[in-house]
Amino acid sequence: MLNGKRILIGIGGGIAVYKVAELARMLSKAGADVHCVMTRSACEFVTPLTFEALTGNQVFTELFDLTSEREMGHIALARQADAVIIAPATASLLARIAHGIADDLLTTIMQVCDKPPVLLAPAMNTSMWESEATRRNMATLKQRGMHCVGPDEGELACGESGAGRLADVRTILSELLPLMAEHDLHGQRWVINGGPTVEAWDDVRILTNRASGMLGALLADRAAIRGANVSFIAGPGTPASHAHVKRMDVESAEQMLRACEQEAADSDVFIGTAAVSDFRFRDSLHGKLKRGDMQTMMIELSANPDIVAHIANMPSRPGRVIAFAAESDNHIAHARSKLLNKHVDAIVANDISNMGSNLAGGWWVRNDSEQTITADSKSAFAEQIINHITELNR
Ligand code: C5P
Repeated sequence: MLNGKRILIGIGGGIAVYKVAELARMLSKAGADVHCVMTRSACEFVTPLTFEALTGNQVFTELFDLTSEREMGHIALARQADAVIIAPATASLLARIAHGIADDLLTTIMQVCDKPPVLLAPAMNTSMWESEATRRNMATLKQRGMHCVGPDEGELACGESGAGRLADVRTILSELLPLMAEHDLHGQRWVINGGPTVEAWDDVRILTNRASGMLGALLADRAAIRGANVSFIAGPGTPASHAHVKRMDVESAEQMLRACEQEAADSDVFIGTAAVSDFRFRDSLHGKLKRGDMQTMMIELSANPDIVAHIANMPSRPGRVIAFAAESDNHIAHARSKLLNKHVDAIVANDISNMGSNLAGGWWVRNDSEQTITADSKSAFAEQIINHITELNR
């Protein structure tokens, strides 16, 4: 998502500057064209050279001569940026931006930079953050359409403890993505399940599978970034979710079914990516079953409900229901028979080798057509699946 995007980081003077160096590195690594403008006090903490080395772009610091081509060029670049991050946004920087005091290059840029989304990442002493002045300035900036991430609570550089720490750089990055994405799913409710399920035999032993939950987690994150209201029902071990995703962690197929049923009623889209255990133990036991001198043992299993089929057949059926089919051969034929049996709108068929690996790609299978989905990563795969789903409603 960040590949080729122009990001401007406006860097204020606070001890948290060193964390912003990591943010600049992460953005550059993700393929963004990162440009930094530092205030004079930011340069007291870290030299511009650090950011030049991390971004490969010249860092601008002073307001020299606004008629010089170089400086004007940089202001133009700021206007054309896909997003602007102000970090650390100190109390003084917030105040100057809020009041239009253009007394250095960064505040001058902020006065003319009216198109790109702006994400403020404040960091300061707790009393300054909670002061009436900062509160009013923040309200002004939000009213102007700027976004804010953090500050976090915790121990501060001044030795005090409270709200005022710069938000974690990963959180800053994840808050940035929705600001840059097209919000084509705005107003829609998507429900997605993912990961393995775990069936308990006794308090120690379980029945599960090798699913990582990665694709389900990516689908949930991407749909949320594109503006959908997403509920993600996740089996054990599924990767963490974006802050905009409503996540519900479950263990067994039975728990997953109940959560899906509750969330999916009358939703717009349901996607069943979970590798639901086909069976559970007929009798699950408390404590730990003793082996004794048993050499063989028969265990009776009962079939679990088919969650996606249940959702596709409920009276408050979601607008679109999509299932997955992991197959080792005859992918499309097997997928099509599942499509009919489960009464779903489409199946994403893929090879079992995708499971638990970085491999991606498969087939978008409908009743009367199929299309190959080629993708070089799971996130590109997730993005394409979402595109196929949105096309169903066109
Ligand atoms: O029938 P099969 O397990 O191959 O179908 C896979 C699809 O069905 C996936 O979308 C999976 O999430 C869903 N499924 C389910 N409940 C089950 C078994 C599979 O929702 N008990």
